Amino acid sequence: MMKIHYVIYLGCLLAAGPVKSQQVQQTTATKEIPSLKAVFAGDFVIGTALNAAQVEGRDPRAALLVPQQFNVATPENVMKAAPIHPEWGRYNFGPADALVEYGRNNNIGINAHTLIWHSQLPRFAQQLQSIDSFRLFFQEHIKTVAGRYSGKVLSWDVVNEALNEDGSMRKSVFLDKLGDDYVTEAFRLAQEASPNTVLYYNDYNNEQPAKRAGCIALIKKVQAAGVRIDGVGIQGHWSLGKIPLKHIEQSILEYAALGIKVAITELDIEVLPRNFQGADVNQRMQATPSTNPYVNGLPDSVQQQLAADYRALFQLFLKHRDKIDRVTFWGVNDGNSWLNGWPVRGRTNYPLLFDREYQPKPAFWAVVGLKNK
Ligand code: G3I
Repeated sequence: MMKIHYVIYLGCLLAAGPVKSQQVQQTTATKEIPSLKAVFAGDFVIGTALNAAQVEGRDPRAALLVPQQFNVATPENVMKAAPIHPEWGRYNFGPADALVEYGRNNNIGINAHTLIWHSQLPRFAQQLQSIDSFRLFFQEHIKTVAGRYSGKVLSWDVVNEALNEDGSMRKSVFLDKLGDDYVTEAFRLAQEASPNTVLYYNDYNNEQPAKRAGCIALIKKVQAAGVRIDGVGIQGHWSLGKIPLKHIEQSILEYAALGIKVAITELDIEVLPRNFQGADVNQRMQATPSTNPYVNGLPDSVQQQLAADYRALFQLFLKHRDKIDRVTFWGVNDGNSWLNGWPVRGRTNYPLLFDREYQPKPAFWAVVGLKNK
C-alpha cells in the first residue's frame, strides 16, 4: 500500500505585515500517514465536502491533506441554488468554477451538490406566486447550472431530501407548485442538460425502513417513467454508539437490487448530546452547558467509541464494496464540520477522522487498519 510521507507543518504563520500568500514555516518532522484513497483503491472512492477557503487555497494544511487523502469532492455550499442563482437570470458561477478548477488541478473528481433542494432556495424563487413562473425557474435553473458543468463534474445530487421520515413526499414548494412528478422532471432535465453525468437522489435517514421504502418507491417512479437515475445517496449523518448497521446493510442490499449505485454521501458521526436523529437543517436544539461537554478535548472513551463506530461502518462498506461506489465524509477535519453549529450554535464537535490540527484520530487508524492488517 502506498504510504505517503506527510510533512507536518508545525511552524507559525509569519505575522510581519500583509502576507500575500500564507507562508508556513516548514519543519523537518515527517510522519507516515496512509492515504485513504490509496488504502481503499479498488473498493470505493473516498470523498470529502469542501468549503470555499479550502477550494481557494486559503487553508495551507488542507491544500496538502485533501489531494493526499481524497479522490472525489463535494461542494459543501457553492453549487446550491441560493449561492449560484441569487436572482432571476443572474448566476454566480465564480466559486463553483473555482471548485471545478481545483478538482482539475488536484486530480479530484467532483460530485456536484445540489440542483433541487427546499433549503438554500433563493429568495426570489421562494416568492414566485404563479406556477408557470416557478416551473420556468425550475427548468432554467437545472438547464443552466447542469449544462454549464456538463463534462466537468462526475455526478450530481439532482434532488436532495424530497422525503419525510415516514417515506411520504416532503411538503416542499416543489411539491406544492409542481406536483410529485417534480422529482422525475428534475432527473429528466438533468439528463438532457448533462448527458454523461451520474445522477443521484440524495437523502438522510433513508437507511431507516419507512423512509427507505419511500425512497425505493420514488426511485422506481423515476425508472418507470423511463428517466435515468443512476444512484442513491445515503447521507450517513449518524450518532455515536447508535449506528444503525442492520438498517444500513438492508438498505445497501435493497437499493442495489434496483440496479443503481449506492453512495455514502455525507458521512459524519455526532459525538455530542442530541435528542433527535437526522440532518434537517431547519431543526434546532436548546443550548445548555450539558450539550457542549467536550470544549477542552474529547475523552479517550469517546475517541475509542468513535473509532469502533467508524471501524464497524467500513467493515460493512467493504463487505458490500461491489455495491458501494463512493464514501464521502462531510468535511475534512473536526473544525470544518457543520455539526459545530447545528443543531446548537457554537459547540465543539468531533465527528470526522482528522482533528483540528489535521492530525489523524484513532478513528482514522481504525478504518485504515481494516486493510493494513
Ligand atoms: O455564505 C453565507 C455568508 O455570506 C453569510 O454571511 C452567512 C451568515 O448567515 O451565511 C453563509 O452561508 C451559510 C453557508 O452554510 C456557508 O457557510 C448558510 O447561512 C448556512 O445555512 C450554510 O449551512 C450549510 C447547510 O447545509 C445549509 O445549506 C452547511 O454548511 C452544510 O454543511 C449543510 O450541508 C447539508 C447538505 O447540503 C445536505 N444534507 C444535509 C447537510 C447538513 O445540513
